[in-house]
Amino acid sequence: MINRIPVTRTAAPGEKPGDDQLGFGRYFTDHMFTMDCSPEKGWHDPRVTPYAPVCLDPAAMVFHYGQELFEGLKAYRGVDGKVRLFRAIENIRRLNRSCERLFIPTLSESLFMDALLTLLRTDIDRVPESRDASLYIRPFIIATDPFLGVRASENYKLMIILSPSGPYYKGGMSPTSIFVETADVRAVRGGLGAVKAGANYAATIRAQEAAKKEGFAQVLWTDAFEHRYVEEIGTSNAFFVMDGTVVTPALTGSILPGITRASCLELLKSWEVPLEERDVTVDELIRASEEGRLTEAFASGTAAVISPVGSLHWKGRDFVMGTGQTGPVTQRLYDTLTGIQRGAEPDPFGWTSEV
Ligand code: COI
Repeated sequence: MINRIPVTRTAAPGEKPGDDQLGFGRYFTDHMFTMDCSPEKGWHDPRVTPYAPVCLDPAAMVFHYGQELFEGLKAYRGVDGKVRLFRAIENIRRLNRSCERLFIPTLSESLFMDALLTLLRTDIDRVPESRDASLYIRPFIIATDPFLGVRASENYKLMIILSPSGPYYKGGMSPTSIFVETADVRAVRGGLGAVKAGANYAATIRAQEAAKKEGFAQVLWTDAFEHRYVEEIGTSNAFFVMDGTVVTPALTGSILPGITRASCLELLKSWEVPLEERDVTVDELIRASEEGRLTEAFASGTAAVISPVGSLHWKGRDFVMGTGQTGPVTQRLYDTLTGIQRGAEPDPFGWTSEV
């Protein structure tokens, strides 16, 4: 069944910066999607309206206890001019897993997909043309009950906004220097780390700012108990190439199951590249770097795509990852993923869908 979603168009379209001015997440399109949830009606009243501030009660529970989640996906303008989504169904499924963890009513996949398509078609002219820019899509859900007791909210708002964006990291594919964090903790097993809750990111800001001040692009997150095991890099999943094998931390409950991570794993498998999902210690990375066995490191995420890591800073020393430059596995994954997303490469897995 197609869910028909009413669209109210803006009478005052906003500025449209050129692709070279975009940066990440700074500009928004002229429209947004909203839907409400109440105990009587469930999720109801889906609508696309002009982009505008939201009016909320100051007691809305999201402001006090952070019952909030979000998603991140992108629409790409292809080499053939067509606009494509990449594995959007996986984002919808992960959004529902986040809903379950945060005790928020889940959504119908088909309604969510229709919401996405209706909004995207309304602002389709805002999907950037240039190769390293795309339309970043940010769905999010907030708890709106005006109430200060700690319990699940009864009412929620789902919104989707669109941000024409360039690369997440200013340097694009330039290798980054990463600080290995051993004081602050991003997430613990059983907590929120495996879902896309805003609270996960709040926990990372202090360490990220401290690392930035010291000249590092991001931090590498380690486990909460011993700070021995690698978890994530910045807002992305972590990959290393050691002794010719691609190694990534296994999803043990505190790591976000990234859709780009899953796509890298599927591509690597199809290329018959040796691959391990397992516990990875900082010690073994340092040893492998010193012995010249660690040849590449990169971060993967929707926003960051594939971002090469040039060095890790640990206990006052810098350890270079391979040559410190983008390695061949990193480059091949980047080229293939972005090629599929832009319709420049075959899509054997059926990952893309036209908008
Ligand atoms: C994404 O890659 O979509 C993310 O969630 C990163 C975001 C926090 C900027």
